[in-house]
Amino acid sequence: MARKKLIAGNWKMNGLMEDGIALAKGIAQEVKAFGKSECEFLVCPPFTLLASVKKALRGAKVALGAQDVHFAEKGAHTGDISPLMLKDLGCTYVIIGHSERRADHFESNELICKKAVAAHAAGLKTVICIGETEAQRDAGKTIDVCKEQILGSVPDDSTAADTVIAYEPVWAIGTGKTPTAKDVEEVHAAVRKVLAKKIGKGNANKMKILYGGSVKPSNAKEFLSLPDVDGALIGGASLKVADFMAIAKNASENKK
Ligand code: PGA
Repeated sequence: MARKKLIAGNWKMNGLMEDGIALAKGIAQEVKAFGKSECEFLVCPPFTLLASVKKALRGAKVALGAQDVHFAEKGAHTGDISPLMLKDLGCTYVIIGHSERRADHFESNELICKKAVAAHAAGLKTVICIGETEAQRDAGKTIDVCKEQILGSVPDDSTAADTVIAYEPVWAIGTGKTPTAKDVEEVHAAVRKVLAKKIGKGNANKMKILYGGSVKPSNAKEFLSLPDVDGALIGGASLKVADFMAIAKNASENKK
């Protein structure tokens, strides 16, 4: 089952207007030069940069995504952004349930699932994040935690066309630490198995499962060549055009 690799940049809370536009323009230029690509590209800037980044990406095959969304269509939710607002800005993706939102904003699997349902209803694709903490890993609970997060946060009617899963061990995010390739493949295979039970084998086999957590050019090949790894969700290294593109190059050299 050939799944095209997705190279996704999560800019997090980084970038003022000038830097954000320069980064997007740099990526757009490189992606155009990349030619016929074996991978798909996605960038997820902060809300404040979405409109300008959309403009800067014009003509390049790079999808635009947000980093969070509210589940309501509109109304009295001060400070929140609705799925339709993101759609209106030209987003086609939204990241949901990133561990930083689970931790900083106390987001539960149930809330994440509600957000995903709303995003899908508005025609957005979701990147739903899962992953264990260091304590959970030390306790040997990695697979159990990931399974529970999949069962609780992925809507029952999700399909490979509207959902991407990102496995990001919390302890590997922004730390420079990474699991072994064997560990990553084991978790991804387990995730695909639990997805098969939840949404059917056909969808599960087609669904992209990304790895995230300290991905950089020097380790990208190791992860992106694994059978169940269908791309990367990249934080720190997505803020540099050269690093982001070097990771993509590794992905395209690893065609399955
Ligand atoms: P990192 O972040 O690449 O900086 O570790 C990944 C993420 O949180 O998506």
